[in-house]
Amino acid sequence: MTNDALHCTPPEISKETERLHEQLHKLGWTREGCRLLAPTTLEINRLKKEQGAIILVHSYQTPDIMYGVADFVGDSYDLSRKASEHPARKIIFSSVYFMGETAKLLNPEKEVLVPKKAGCSLADSITAEQVKKLRQQYPEAGVVCYVNTYASVKAESDACCTSSNVQAVVEAMPQEEIIFIPDQMMGLNLRNMTSKTIIPWQGTCIVHDEFNENSIMQIRQQFPDAEILAHPECSPGIVNLVDFVGGTAAMLKHVQNSSATTFMLVTECGLTDRFKAECTDKNIVGSCILCPYMKEIGLTDILDTLKNPDPENRVELPPALAEKARACLDNMFALEKTAAAAD
Ligand code: 13P
Ligand code: SF4
Repeated sequence: MTNDALHCTPPEISKETERLHEQLHKLGWTREGCRLLAPTTLEINRLKKEQGAIILVHSYQTPDIMYGVADFVGDSYDLSRKASEHPARKIIFSSVYFMGETAKLLNPEKEVLVPKKAGCSLADSITAEQVKKLRQQYPEAGVVCYVNTYASVKAESDACCTSSNVQAVVEAMPQEEIIFIPDQMMGLNLRNMTSKTIIPWQGTCIVHDEFNENSIMQIRQQFPDAEILAHPECSPGIVNLVDFVGGTAAMLKHVQNSSATTFMLVTECGLTDRFKAECTDKNIVGSCILCPYMKEIGLTDILDTLKNPDPENRVELPPALAEKARACLDNMFALEKTAAAAD
């Protein structure tokens, strides 16, 4: 990025500084810090408008991205939906690569770009070949893949699921035996949520794997009035000890609707920042465990992607593979409907 490209007048900078500061001061940002950010967010927002693009941002991204340039902030499920429903022809997906792939699968005709091809310990834990081997090993079982998988793995699975619909999807599957990939913890948690036989893969999220039962008990002692919320990528031992289990969107809804005043989030610290900025009437106690993949992306990567995308930024999938992977996502939406009708 070259700074001379960022032409902004002093009044524009002042106005943008105030806009950024309105949200970011809640997270300790100074006005001066926001002023330094302002030329970049102004330029990104100008280019976005000029190109008819939208910027989708996962809740684990940094606050300067969330409050500076995002059109929508959400969980992997909401963002995939948003990508399909919004009329924009160009999507910049500020998150890890598998989410960009999901957006492309759901919007084959749209241009989907990612600021960095960032990995994920769960998505990186399994290949399409390994799914084929599992199928041979358990020929009667259906395969449900968590959304944290690459398109090549989705293409070999029967249905996808996200943290918001995992139980509904697994229960609506026609098979009684389910190979659940790639999150071992979510698979083990599922065993306590359904009567189906769950065969989990051994992938783990390096963020949620950092927490343990002792750390939860220490939090209880330190903050006896706090409600503790955990992501379903945490171990069953943790899930058993906490007050609420849900994906990032479900956690936000829970905090907004709960009468409790203090909350502890057992998840990536980007979400803690989001809650601190958006739930100002609540006391949010965060752990700070960063996802190094999510944090690979910075504002300047988004700017470079808009100004001068290279082939690495562009999400392209071979048509035959995309068709199979899309069927896996379509099946998720169909199974969700079946589950809702049965309720
Ligand atoms: P959700 O936002 O869908 O709950 O997923 C969390 C996550 O780990 C994304 O990588
Ligand atoms: Fe993957 Fe965990 Fe990072 Fe989410 S938080 S992107 S699951 S490593």
